[in-house]
Amino acid sequence: MTQSVTIEPGTPEALPAILKIEEACFSAPWTRKMLETELTGNQFAHFLLAKSVGQGGTGSAAIIGYLCFWIVFEEVRLMNLAVVESMRRRGIASALVTEALQAGLAQSATRALLEVRASNQAAQSLYAGLGFHHVSTRPKYYTNPLEDAVLMELAPILSGPRSASRAIDVNGGQVRPL
Ligand SMILES: CC(C)(COP(=O)(O)OP(=O)(O)OC[C@H]1O[C@@H](n2cnc3c(N)ncnc32)[C@H](O)[C@@H]1OP(=O)(O)O)[C@@H](O)C(=O)NCCC(=O)NCCS
Repeated sequence: MTQSVTIEPGTPEALPAILKIEEACFSAPWTRKMLETELTGNQFAHFLLAKSVGQGGTGSAAIIGYLCFWIVFEEVRLMNLAVVESMRRRGIASALVTEALQAGLAQSATRALLEVRASNQAAQSLYAGLGFHHVSTRPKYYTNPLEDAVLMELAPILSGPRSASRAIDVNGGQVRPL
C-alpha cells in the first residue's frame, strides 16, 4: 500500500505514543513525567510528530517518529529525536530536524545545538549531513550506560529549501516532496 508521512506539531494527546517510541528507542528514555512537563509546562518546548498515513489519507495515522526541541531566543536546541526502527533510513528524522530549524528561523534563531552519545554514529551522521559540526565533548554526560556527549552546532542556521516535511512520500526509501 502507498504510504506517506506527514509532519505535524505535537500535542499532549500524543504523549502515550511518544512514550512508546521513547521506550523502544533509548536505553535511558525520558519518563512520562518528563515528557508531560515538556508538552505542557515548558514555554520554550515544541514537538513535531511524524505520522504515517495510508493512500488518500484514509485510516488512522500512526505516530512513527518525534522531535522535541526548544527555541530559546537565538538558539534552537534539539532535545530528543527518535524514529521507529521499521521506518528508518527514509529521511524522516532529517525532515523533522529541518522543520525545527525552519521554525527556529521563523523566530529569528541563528544557531542550533544538540548533544548526542559519542557512540551514536547514526545520529551523528544524520546531523553532520544537515550541516552540524562537532564543537566539544562533555565527559560522562550520559548514564545507562555512562558515556560522553558530543556537542554539535549549526551556525548560522541557513534558510534552505522548505523541508521535505509536511507531506513526504516514503515509498521505496526515498523522500520526495509532494
Ligand atoms: C538517529 C535516527 C533518529 C535517524 O532516523 P532516520 O529517520 O532513520 O534518519 P534519516 O533517514 O533522516 O537519515 C538521514 C541520514 O542520516 C544518516 N544515518 C541515519 N541512520 C544511519 C545509520 N544507522 N547509520 C549510518 N548513517 C545513518 C545517513 O547519512 C542518512 O542518509 P541516507 O539514508 O541517505 O544514507 C534513528 O536511527 C533513531 O531513532 N535512533 C534511535 C534514537 C536516537 O539515537 N536518536 C538520536 C538521539 S541524539
